[in-house]
Amino acid sequence: MNKINIVLTFFSFFLISSCGSFKPKYLNEKSESIPVIEGNLEKRFYLIGDAGAAETTDTNEALVIFEKFIEDKETSKDQLIYLGDNIYPRGLPKKDEKSRKEAEVRMDAQLRSAKKFKGTTVFIPGNHDWYAKDGLKGLKRQEEYVEEGLDDNEAFQPENGCPIEEIDISENIVLLILDTQWFISDWDKHPTINDECDIKSRSDFFLEIEGELKKNNEKTILIAMHHPAFTYGLHGGYFNFKKHLNPSSGKIPLPILGTLVTQIRSQGGVSPQDRYNVRYNELMKRLITLATDSDRVIFASGHEHALQYIENEGIKQIVSGSGAKEAPVNLGEGAHFVYGGRGFATLDVYDNGGSIVTFYAPDENNDPKLMFSKVVHEPRKNMILHF
Ligand SMILES: [Fe+2]
Repeated sequence: MNKINIVLTFFSFFLISSCGSFKPKYLNEKSESIPVIEGNLEKRFYLIGDAGAAETTDTNEALVIFEKFIEDKETSKDQLIYLGDNIYPRGLPKKDEKSRKEAEVRMDAQLRSAKKFKGTTVFIPGNHDWYAKDGLKGLKRQEEYVEEGLDDNEAFQPENGCPIEEIDISENIVLLILDTQWFISDWDKHPTINDECDIKSRSDFFLEIEGELKKNNEKTILIAMHHPAFTYGLHGGYFNFKKHLNPSSGKIPLPILGTLVTQIRSQGGVSPQDRYNVRYNELMKRLITLATDSDRVIFASGHEHALQYIENEGIKQIVSGSGAKEAPVNLGEGAHFVYGGRGFATLDVYDNGGSIVTFYAPDENNDPKLMFSKVVHEPRKNMILHF
């Protein structure tokens, strides 16, 4: 094979192996209805991620369909979770900074939707929420803004830039909120990062999670964290053809450089925010190992601007990160459903341990349309002992 052929083969292989698209894709046939679990609904979670990019005072499609969806529903016992990247691009700036107004508009759109929701709302941090010029102070500024906006001191978790918050949702359900950006961050850039926290090292972080998982082993444990353990979009190394030509989304396409950057990103190394970067990978490998010891753990994340449901390595992973933006995504290993358009997810957990995930996206009239639904955990079988 001559040199040109080798180069062409190299690029064709990676183009084919890494392509994603915006269209919905299904492992099996598209589900036309929501499965039924016999039992009492114990909690409904609404999951919306990366919703902090409304361009104007108008809200965006994902929030519009969320509001329409809850309009005629009794939501007072439900839980809404905004899964991070609540304000693009650099968190909540100080009051006198030029970009403050735009950041407020972006946050206010989400607060407006939360106010129409009658249940409890919690915002969790994503990487962009840490990107304010003064880092941790900016994150705390957002925390205060959310708490004031919703008149609820618990509406942003974990607090004070700390990494873990455990919330007992009900008798059989625990919500474990992790600040995965805390783990991934370069702590040299945030010298005061753990001053107000009990957990002061990454090893303590894992010990705490291990303890929580063991303590709540009989319950359904929803782990809400911005970064997904499994994802098949841009952060997971899956790119569509346009991205190969122009990986930085700039004005000038650079085809060869583009493919190289794409290839490096898919193997880890360019951005700390990509799944196979060293620190991110270390975090997820450990979390997956810890979680597989528990029977009813569910991961819920944003970060990737797509909707995905993945069952892999014993983990159930919901990705709902298209609260404002959209991006191509592929049907990778263990994926049951992926869609590169805007939308949100619900997770219904029953008192018998059963649970169902459902994804919604806007139809042509901007009404919520069912995209996919699946049983996440089957109900517990009642053991009848005969003597
Ligand atoms: Fe993110």
